[in-house]
Amino acid sequence: MSELFSPLTIKSVTLRNRIVMSPMCQYSAEDGFANDWHLVHLGSRAVGGSGLIIMEATAVVPEGRISYADMGIWKDEHIAPLKKITDFIHAQGSVAGIQLAHAGRKASAEKAWNGGRQIAEGPNSWTTVAPSAVPYHEKDRTPHELSVAEIKEIISAFRDAARRALDAGFKVVEIHAAHGYLIHQFYSALSNFRTDEYGGSFDNRIRFLLEIIDAVQTVWPADLPLFVRISATEWVEDAGAWTIEDSVRLAAILKDKGVDLIDASSAANIPKAPIPVGPGYQVPLAAAIRKGSGVMTGAVGMITEPEQAEAILKSGAADLIFLGRELLRNPYFPVQAAQTLGAAWKWPDQYERAK
Ligand code: FNR
Repeated sequence: MSELFSPLTIKSVTLRNRIVMSPMCQYSAEDGFANDWHLVHLGSRAVGGSGLIIMEATAVVPEGRISYADMGIWKDEHIAPLKKITDFIHAQGSVAGIQLAHAGRKASAEKAWNGGRQIAEGPNSWTTVAPSAVPYHEKDRTPHELSVAEIKEIISAFRDAARRALDAGFKVVEIHAAHGYLIHQFYSALSNFRTDEYGGSFDNRIRFLLEIIDAVQTVWPADLPLFVRISATEWVEDAGAWTIEDSVRLAAILKDKGVDLIDASSAANIPKAPIPVGPGYQVPLAAAIRKGSGVMTGAVGMITEPEQAEAILKSGAADLIFLGRELLRNPYFPVQAAQTLGAAWKWPDQYERAK
């Protein structure tokens, strides 16, 4: 029996299979609003058979966007176009999730296809914020060091965003705590040089994430799944670098707080790191977290083959398989994977004749 096509129930939500569309920025929003591009982009992956579709990094405040064209969820007006998308996804038997994000010192950037570098000045740029006034890249602007009052405001913004996500019909929230964005900037000692309760010790550096989770949980129902994406290692030996051991320790704490799944990505808090990119290169991170903390994990990164995905699940490394670029290339990967693995599959009625 195929593991990839076995359903998974997390709290009150059942996923029809283990294939997750990994969150991917589309740089196609104006003022944070979802539009027809997002509906077609995400909707076609729902038609294609993915079990869970996680909307791209969606900013909880305008200055938390990576670029001026990022999705946002900082005002109630954002809810209606998002609801149209979640309704469509759910009508296809898939589940809609959303990744809530703040880019911190890596905000104010260009669209990826325009180079993705930080914009120094002009209407599409703004002052970035961070735990400490240290830029990501030497050519970046120096971020504003957040005061404790400003930290509390961002925590409240995550809470308000989660409430809007619920109103917009999402059934899974993923907190984006990876890839060198604001939460990662706090938990890594390579970017956090604070001397107050949000810096220094491990417990102090993870405090921002834990307080965000507490705040989100005041509005996000206890019977709906809550995921956290982390950079499970920074791939460097420098003193203070975040390691897989730190991630296992963090994952156990998150599990105790009611987080359902750790989505194990890596890197991107420092510009140069020897990342061992290759097929399934981050799978051992998911495996170590699952084994060390008992929390469910998602494996992500260069997973492109049905047999590869099946083997990852069978090995016990992960509970869900997150696919990024493979689903960009092929929205019908799930249909084709079911055929390859001999799993039962039903096309949407409209496509019955495609068999
Ligand atoms: C990404 N990725 C990403 N990750 C994330 O956590 N939030 C995001 O919004 C984005 N945006 C994004 C855009 C695009 C165009 C790509 C290709 C990637 C990373 C993505 O979710 C995934 O982790 C990586 O792409 C690795 O998986 P694949 O592509 O090797 O399957």
